[in-house]
Amino acid sequence: MSSDQHQHPLWWQRGVIYQIYPRSFKDTTDDGVGDLKGVIDQLDYLNDGSAAGEARFAARGSASSLGVDAIWLSPFYPSPMADFGYDVADYCDVDPLFGDLATFDRLVAEAHRRGIRIIIDYVPNHTSDQHSWFIESRSSRQNPRRDWYVWRDPKPDGSPPNNWLSVFGGPAWEWDQVTGQYYLHSFLKEQPDLNWRNPEVKQAMFDVVRFWLERGVDGFRIDVAHYVMKDPQMRDNPPNPDLGQAMHRPMGDYDSQVHLHDKGHPDVHAVFREFRQLLDAYGAENPRMSVGEIHIYDWQQWASYYGQHMDELHMPFNFALLNVPWEARAVREVVDALEAAIPAGAWPNYVLGNHDESRLATRYGRSHARVAAMLLLTLRGTPTLYYGDEIGMADVPIPPGRQQDPWGLRVPGLGRDPGRTPMQWDDSPNAGFSDVEPWLPVAAGYGTRNVAAQAADPTSMLNLYRRLLWYRRHSPALYGGSYRPVDAGDDDCFVYLRVADEERCLVALNFAGDQRCVSVPGEGAGQVVISTHLDREGSESLSGLELRPHEGLIVEL
Ligand code: GLC
Repeated sequence: MSSDQHQHPLWWQRGVIYQIYPRSFKDTTDDGVGDLKGVIDQLDYLNDGSAAGEARFAARGSASSLGVDAIWLSPFYPSPMADFGYDVADYCDVDPLFGDLATFDRLVAEAHRRGIRIIIDYVPNHTSDQHSWFIESRSSRQNPRRDWYVWRDPKPDGSPPNNWLSVFGGPAWEWDQVTGQYYLHSFLKEQPDLNWRNPEVKQAMFDVVRFWLERGVDGFRIDVAHYVMKDPQMRDNPPNPDLGQAMHRPMGDYDSQVHLHDKGHPDVHAVFREFRQLLDAYGAENPRMSVGEIHIYDWQQWASYYGQHMDELHMPFNFALLNVPWEARAVREVVDALEAAIPAGAWPNYVLGNHDESRLATRYGRSHARVAAMLLLTLRGTPTLYYGDEIGMADVPIPPGRQQDPWGLRVPGLGRDPGRTPMQWDDSPNAGFSDVEPWLPVAAGYGTRNVAAQAADPTSMLNLYRRLLWYRRHSPALYGGSYRPVDAGDDDCFVYLRVADEERCLVALNFAGDQRCVSVPGEGAGQVVISTHLDREGSESLSGLELRPHEGLIVEL
């Protein structure tokens, strides 16, 4: 099905990315909000640098550090925090809440010393309404920066120029009384959309990229990457005929339209070709990478963001596993469809959680979380882990008075706070996250579900993640090999082979809550190296491989 052309994968292909939502990782300044120094303090937890050492050995032993290869930091830039940092007021600085540029530089140096790459969030579609560019732009129609944003006259009846909707509810246009025009905001009205058709905007935003590349960052996660180019004629979106979901999950009124004209115009590809050239220009010694947040669920369209000649994004995030029915057959269909859609020379990736979603342990249920971990870390392509998923953190119910997310405040039910709560480090007050009341409540069960407790428990979820990460790091079949699904005789089990020149691995995942037996045609016996239960190793026959309820196995062939 897929080739094993990638014999020498690059760091971002071979590695595992760990997403940190800085507000919620570790507070070192006693203000209830996490900060960059907190990230520095926890780097050894993520990867203490010993993982690169001699291998097969370590892979079987227990690691004391998670062993991720890169961290992606959600925005830490100066921001009024209307959308918790995705409303950027200055792209080239650090919000005092999180530290300063010197702290950032130290984070890069400390991470690199441990072999951890730094991927930062790049938010090109919109700025904060408090960004100096927008303040100038809205000051008068004659201002040189007027055209840096998308301004339009009202319709003759005074209504907005077209029917586009904000993702966060309501129209995507805000009336500006002073200058008598509407401006476009695909998200909050505090997040005006930049006009990427203006060459000065592109230049300024590429200068931002240079600024961070010069500071040593290794990659960029590009926020709503496909939004940056819209229909130049600004035509109305057509209504959504079947009122089905426009995205991977229900989005309220936003689902009433087909989002044909308000994002993803083909001109977006030229922008990413140039973006890629910029990264490549800095990549001689250390290849830099980009991963785009692209919510497109048509595979061909999605894959177009790699570029016709693999000359655009290094990867569009693959969100297809975020909301699949959690059944072996459905999951296999998604994986097989992705493998079929991946263009030659492109590298796949998988995501099971992020700061916009319900937690994995809640979305699919706690009993499925271990199989999900093994799936994510054994498929072909780069996995992205969301902080806290490695200890099985679940959604935290947020009392009405403590809701923070503007989306949830505008559209009840769509709030993202439950999946953004403080990291649970230990059983001390506030889970060791902060000495004061955190910005969002800590999970009720943190006394037992925390890093310290799970580090001490040899069969914990944390130790499962550590084992899987260490094993993957040293397994050419897993980090670089081909993928081939196996019909193993039980529809509730997803079984696949990962094969590199020097190694063959079988992964067998039982999605069912009862015992199952699979058989792999043509194979004799294999060595179980990891069970999701962390209590089983040794030789097993592959003509009748027993899987306990919700058990996954990695078997060396
Ligand atoms: C992306 C981010 C999300 C943010 C939105 C607007 O979807 O992941 O958190 O609210 O863009 O920037």
